[in-house]
Amino acid sequence: MKLKRGSRCTVCRSKGENKKAVVFLSHHRLALCKEHFITWFENRVERTIKEFRMFSRKDRILVAVSGGKDSLSLWNALVKLGYEADGLYINLGIGEYSEDSKRLSEDFAKRINRNLHIVDLKEEIASIPQITESVNKPACSACGSVKRYYMNKTAKELGYNIIATGHNLDDEVAVLFGNTLNWDIEYMRRQYPVLEEESGFIRKVKPLCKITEKESALYAVFNGIDYIEYECPFSEGASSIRYKEIWSQIEQQSPGSKLRFYTGFLKKMQPILKEKEKRESELRTCVVCGEPSFNEICSVCKLKQRLAQV
Ligand code: AMP
Ligand code: FES
Ligand code: ZN
Ligand code: ZN
Repeated sequence: MKLKRGSRCTVCRSKGENKKAVVFLSHHRLALCKEHFITWFENRVERTIKEFRMFSRKDRILVAVSGGKDSLSLWNALVKLGYEADGLYINLGIGEYSEDSKRLSEDFAKRINRNLHIVDLKEEIASIPQITESVNKPACSACGSVKRYYMNKTAKELGYNIIATGHNLDDEVAVLFGNTLNWDIEYMRRQYPVLEEESGFIRKVKPLCKITEKESALYAVFNGIDYIEYECPFSEGASSIRYKEIWSQIEQQSPGSKLRFYTGFLKKMQPILKEKEKRESELRTCVVCGEPSFNEICSVCKLKQRLAQV
């Protein structure tokens, strides 16, 4: 995202104006002024919502907010785009980190004049440090399951039909990379920007899946959004952080790699995994010979029956 000295905003230039660019999006080959970066960001979020048919202006959306740049930027953009979006903050009880992120989320909700619902894990089950101590599981994995559970439960109880999270392109690429290194097909199959509602789960969406971490940080800064700038203390040494470092090197040498890796997966690999799932769920055993078959009677048994008739 290096900006050359004296660069002008591409959009302003096309309108015959001559405003200085403050950001260069190398993989989109765009130099933009502050105002046009904000518009670019919001248009990109809107296009992603439409592309994956995430929700419409009739839906009631609950944005899961952590107090970080991604979820607060997402909430800001959705409200600005005219969506009906409130917030949900889950207080994980992780000392100063939770206190700071809760305060920032509350301040932001007041600023945009929207409801922020708060779930306190200490009251519901126990804080993340307490859970980690008693079940001997890594904090992040216990935390992930608990967050998913309360996001879903709270959204249903409060009458929201969509949960939106702030997962960005860097998050998605890091997860996909980890799953690819392990060839974890089951996780890959579920990695999609929309998880449809099914058996008690409401629809979950990731409208920032094509926005990089840097872009969402810039959007927050340009909009004067105060967000928590340090990571959760349990995230130290997490593999996702290592993968993000590797990908930032790849991206530097070859701008656009992250987006290509992720969108390529969605376009080329996801349909194959979905089809495999469909075929597996359709796979039955042949009632005649007991071998696996897509139909009640397998093709060989059908063939045998036909041969017997001649
Ligand atoms: P993380 O798993 O920390 O990378 O966060 C991914 C997304 O989960 C964030 O962008 C939020 O949308 C959501 N999230 C994380 N922590 C919380 C929290 N304490 N309360 C509500 N939502 C959260
Ligand atoms: Fe859940 Fe760090 S945010 S363990
Ligand atoms: Zn401009
Ligand atoms: Zn058969």
